Amino acid sequence: MASAPRMARASVSPAVTAEFSSDVVVGLSHAGQKELPSKYLYDEVGSALFDVICLLPEYGLSRAGMRLLQRDSHEIVSLLPAPVLVAELGSGSGQKTRLLLQALSKRQRVNYYPIDISGSALSRCQQEIGQMDRVSIVGFESAYLDGLQEVAARRRDEERILVLFLGSTIGNFDRPAGDQFLREVRRILSEGDALLLATDLEKPIEQLLLAYDDPAGVTAAFNLNLLARINRELGADFDLRQFEHTARYDECERRVEMHLRSKVWQRVTIQAAAQRFYLREGETIWTESSHKYSPPAVVEMGERTGFRCAQQWFDAEWPFAQNLFFVV
Ligand SMILES: C[S@@+](CC[C@H](N)C(=O)[O-])C[C@H]1O[C@@H](n2cnc3c(N)ncnc32)[C@H](O)[C@@H]1O
Repeated sequence: MASAPRMARASVSPAVTAEFSSDVVVGLSHAGQKELPSKYLYDEVGSALFDVICLLPEYGLSRAGMRLLQRDSHEIVSLLPAPVLVAELGSGSGQKTRLLLQALSKRQRVNYYPIDISGSALSRCQQEIGQMDRVSIVGFESAYLDGLQEVAARRRDEERILVLFLGSTIGNFDRPAGDQFLREVRRILSEGDALLLATDLEKPIEQLLLAYDDPAGVTAAFNLNLLARINRELGADFDLRQFEHTARYDECERRVEMHLRSKVWQRVTIQAAAQRFYLREGETIWTESSHKYSPPAVVEMGERTGFRCAQQWFDAEWPFAQNLFFVV
């Protein structure tokens, strides 16, 4: 955290590159399924592509989240304690958040703290929110929990915290890790603090697969960019044309998985790690999961992890829920 007056930004340090390199090596060394952590999808190119994905007709969850905040922000605000500061985990461009902040800023001056691992996402968020009346913004370019800890340390005695976790990003964690993550969030918060959690709900498989494998190929580009990023930042030699994006649904786990399938037998060298990897024809690298929920399962997830559910709001067009929880 440092530098610009209103945005706390870190430049890419050798330690960050070393962690990236180490995570890539660990993920590609798995004896069975090769994996890469989804957080690395969001460099400057990845964040820009994600913003385009949100515009695609097939990716209904983003518009569902917008519609709910357009319709329900005033009601959500009426349920919140006062005064409240807002911390957002994985803010992205902050487009949806703007709707909630507009409603909240009618009631109070708002301190808004977006936390995102992507510096370019934070810059977009600054553009989106930076000029709003009665809202001040300080961003944290960091991992979710590190950022939340920083925000919690800034709260004044009488202030409550509202944590936003929108876009169903919780679905990127597998279910036990999602529980563990919410427990960690709970540990940083205090009684009376709130969590607004957005969750994409179960729906027909064809609809889900189209959302993660659009015919225009934007999601494919988003996924392949992860290999391009490894080439750029770690001096690797992935030949992107020898990989294809695939999305599959695991009915047992109720999740969409994104993979990159190797079209041929190939060897990849990662200079920064001085490592070589081999991929068989047809072998895949698993890059992201998006778990889907039923409404009662969301309530139970909150209850298991130290929250009580105050209310759920549902979209009429695309099964999707905003869920307001309070710390117990
Ligand atoms: C699926 S996007 C959602 C963006 C936005 N909340 C929305 O609803 O459109 C996830 C966001 O979380 C950020 N992110 C992913 N992993 C992260 C991590 N471990 N710590 C902090 N931010 C992360 C990404 O950079 C990205 O902006």
